[in-house]
Amino acid sequence: MKIIFGFLATILIVSLAPYSYASDPSPLQDFCVAVSDSAAAVFVNGKFCKNPNMVVADDFFLSGLNKPGNTSNAVGSRVTPVNVNQLPGLNTLGISAVRIDYAPYGLNPPHTHPRATEILVVLEGTLYVGFVTSNPANPAMKNKLFTKYLNPGDVFVFPEGLIHFQFNVGKTNAIAFAGLSSQNPGVITIANAVFGSDPPINPAVLTKAFQVEKNLIKMKIIFGFLATILIVSLAPFSFASDPSPLQDFCVAVSDSAAAVFVNGKFCKNPNMVVADDFFLSGLNKPGNTSNAVGSRVTPVNVNQLPGLNTLGISAVRIDYAPYGLNPPHTHPRATEILVVLEGTLYVGFVTSNPANPAMKNKLFTKYLNPGDVFVFPEGLIHFQFNVGKTNAVAFAGLSSQNPGVITIANAVFGSDPPINPAVLTKAFQVEKNVIDYLQAQFWSNIG
Ligand SMILES: *[C@@H]1O[C@H](CO)[C@@H](O)[C@H](O)[C@H]1NC(C)=O
Repeated sequence: MKIIFGFLATILIVSLAPYSYASDPSPLQDFCVAVSDSAAAVFVNGKFCKNPNMVVADDFFLSGLNKPGNTSNAVGSRVTPVNVNQLPGLNTLGISAVRIDYAPYGLNPPHTHPRATEILVVLEGTLYVGFVTSNPANPAMKNKLFTKYLNPGDVFVFPEGLIHFQFNVGKTNAIAFAGLSSQNPGVITIANAVFGSDPPINPAVLTKAFQVEKNLIKMKIIFGFLATILIVSLAPFSFASDPSPLQDFCVAVSDSAAAVFVNGKFCKNPNMVVADDFFLSGLNKPGNTSNAVGSRVTPVNVNQLPGLNTLGISAVRIDYAPYGLNPPHTHPRATEILVVLEGTLYVGFVTSNPANPAMKNKLFTKYLNPGDVFVFPEGLIHFQFNVGKTNAVAFAGLSSQNPGVITIANAVFGSDPPINPAVLTKAFQVEKNVIDYLQAQFWSNIG
């Protein structure tokens, strides 16, 4: 056990060391031990720092992670977090950890960390784990599922913002530890955020997004609120930290001849750069909304407009037929600011899992008219629904040249290959025939 713990520590150290491009707010001092000063009238993006003269070793110390978490709940797993909320010394340092316990056939259901990549080490048991890539550039392709069976000592990485899960396929308890690349990674349990938000998402949105009958969605809203077992805290005040990736992943190769990608694109010789590299036309033309959801996203990111490379921004035009829906999705690498030009949209986003497991993921909604602006924070599930009888048009800016998009229904029910139905049956707490039905649908990405 000691050896395996040592192994985990080594991974955490290595993960911080030579290959990470530190960017974003690097700490500006040795440490900034968190204090929750409720008397203060202002908030910062993260926690306040404790007076360095008052800092003690115990600010960097926590015990009890040898104790199993209680897995007596609907999904049969328990995440015990060690982030800045439990260990104040992590403040500003860009890393945290979790212990995960799994009962036999226990599931850590499909979820994302909006602000962190996760590296997981199995200590006991056998886990079936996987993650799903964001929507492919080619709409005829599906979101790709990567899975692996893990045994003790095995290590697996879940890239930042992507939907992932772990399922104990053994007859015994399983244990894993994981490091996360943020002191406050956040977690969004897909089933809870989509079907169990407070207040609920309008059933018309979910009916269209999941292409099912309305009574099934109503049932899901009533029963979909699982016990929130992932206590990794919501982080309205976190420091964004660490390198912002520009694609789902960039697997390292030592042989440069075998390299096909960098984290982003190669740069054009500056002597060859022309004005047209920064130019694109045609965004005045409506997108084709003749599809199952009645909307179309026309992207203007580094793939369409090469001059955006390295600049951290992109745009989209979104067209909505009457009652057209831009279904629940996330951008793993960007915040979005949306401006309505025509029509009336019902829009919303759902917060990540609250610290208090008795609370639900909170839904923020708004009706938007022409000229109205709304913000969808990085990594959170959001949607727009045209509630008018006419077409609607919106433009949005996104804070990455390659923000990525994960359409929740497609990634969960339409991946290639499909996620094991046992995982989805447990995660969504429905009968297997419902999952079979959903996985049999054709899940087209609209942009
Ligand atoms: C585990 O949780 C269940 C359900 O909340 C509870 O009944 C039980 O007492 C807990 N067990 C322990 C050891 O805390």
